[in-house]
Amino acid sequence: MSPETTNKTLLVIDDEDAICLAFERFFGARGWSVRTAATGADGLAACRNERPAVTFLDIRLPDRSGLDLLDELSEHRRTVIVITAYGGLDTVVRALQGKAYDYLAKPIDLDKAITLAERALAEGRRGGQVDMTPAATQGPLVGRSPAMQEVYKRIARAVATNSAVLITGETGTGKELAAAAIHQFSPRRDQPFVAINCGAIPEHLIESELFGHTRGAFTGAHDNRAGKFAQAQGGCLLLDEIADLSPALQVKLLRVLDSGVVEPVGAATGQRLDVRILAATNKNLPAEVEAGRFRRDLYYRLAVLHINLPPLRQRPDDIPLLARHFIRQLAPEAPDRPHLIEDETIRLLTEYDWPGNVRELRNAIDHALLVAPDRTIKAGDLPETIRLGPHPGGDAAALQAATIDYAAALPGEAPQRHQQTVTEVERSLICDAMRRFDGNQSEAARYLGLHRNTLRKKLRDLRIDA
Ligand SMILES: Nc1ncnc2c1ncn2[C@@H]1O[C@H](COP(=O)(O)OP(=O)(O)OP(=O)(O)O)[C@@H](O)[C@H]1O
Ligand SMILES: [Mg+2]
Repeated sequence: MSPETTNKTLLVIDDEDAICLAFERFFGARGWSVRTAATGADGLAACRNERPAVTFLDIRLPDRSGLDLLDELSEHRRTVIVITAYGGLDTVVRALQGKAYDYLAKPIDLDKAITLAERALAEGRRGGQVDMTPAATQGPLVGRSPAMQEVYKRIARAVATNSAVLITGETGTGKELAAAAIHQFSPRRDQPFVAINCGAIPEHLIESELFGHTRGAFTGAHDNRAGKFAQAQGGCLLLDEIADLSPALQVKLLRVLDSGVVEPVGAATGQRLDVRILAATNKNLPAEVEAGRFRRDLYYRLAVLHINLPPLRQRPDDIPLLARHFIRQLAPEAPDRPHLIEDETIRLLTEYDWPGNVRELRNAIDHALLVAPDRTIKAGDLPETIRLGPHPGGDAAALQAATIDYAAALPGEAPQRHQQTVTEVERSLICDAMRRFDGNQSEAARYLGLHRNTLRKKLRDLRIDA
């Protein structure tokens, strides 16, 4: 065991005093010795000189980007946990591919932070499996909710392997987009990404669509034709609506996956191919297996990794972001098109229950852009189903229950119940200090290591009665 694994030293690189303070108190009370740094330069020096066992690194630092800093931390990166409020797919993938240990979204859940830190400490080190330059392109998936952050993490993990990935989720939740993102961030990105909808192609054609055929293999086969597998050579093949594959085709697919060899219909010999398999479905595949409609062995072959896209009603925070994203996408720079969206419209969108998920939202924005008489989308411009439709999302308790159900349903993940957040810790620290100094703000500020104006602002923001 290296000395580091028994040495609970923590470095926090973050310019927010409150975060540093919360880490100091929370980790300090649990046997860690905590050092903080407010700038990238200071953090880098502390990391090199003091060799902390675990480091929490903020992405947004006053002097530089935490992601660039991560590159410079070389061997230390394996025990770095990246933290940020700006957890888009791109950031998460860059952080994890930059070989950070893990990633934590703000607001920080300190219980989760210490679990991660203990694990990082125990493992001592952990490297990414794939060496690749960080992708510069912005991921096409929009959304910053905790549920989507979990999706981004899983995509980032999938990117680092060659395993088959099963992507599930209700209709319109972005399964195909997630598959494309895996391809786009993977080392195969310069090779083809090919998708086939197993549900839309007639039974008698699908075999030749998948595996190709030789001339004369059947009536109408006038030429040799490459199938989707061959077209995807070197890249990724998305088998969409996989649950709709017939039993006969399930057997053939399994054989191809096991052997790596594809035999075009009518061909005497097969061709060895290197294709990464992604599969998607909106059906409950384990239930299909139980019902005998889907082969268990094929299911295990396809679901080596699993990513579940949460329905839109479980992440209403993403709705305003998505709405604005689609306005930009569907009405790019057209001066005669509306570019603004009223608060009331956003409220209706947020409270609707979205059975068609993100696709339905995109269509609703498209509709509104067409009917809106001016550059502002008003509630009346939305499709009637949304204006008058069911709005169970307005019930906060039900919403929370649904969110927890989703978390609990993820295999191997603890439910993400709301635990102690930085805000709560901060509030109790400030209240303690105010009590201790009888409401004297200057002394409380000095005690907390905060500027007096900062403390004032925090009292206001946290609605603490001075
Ligand atoms: N997170 C997201 N950010 C931006 N656009 C999204 C997102 N999720 C879905 N979309 C958009 O919504 C539409 C539906 O997405 P997609 O086709 O990937 O869904 P799906 O889950 O494959 O649906 P289905 O089950 O019906 O095949 C597309 O226009 C896609 O671009
Ligand atoms: Mg799809």
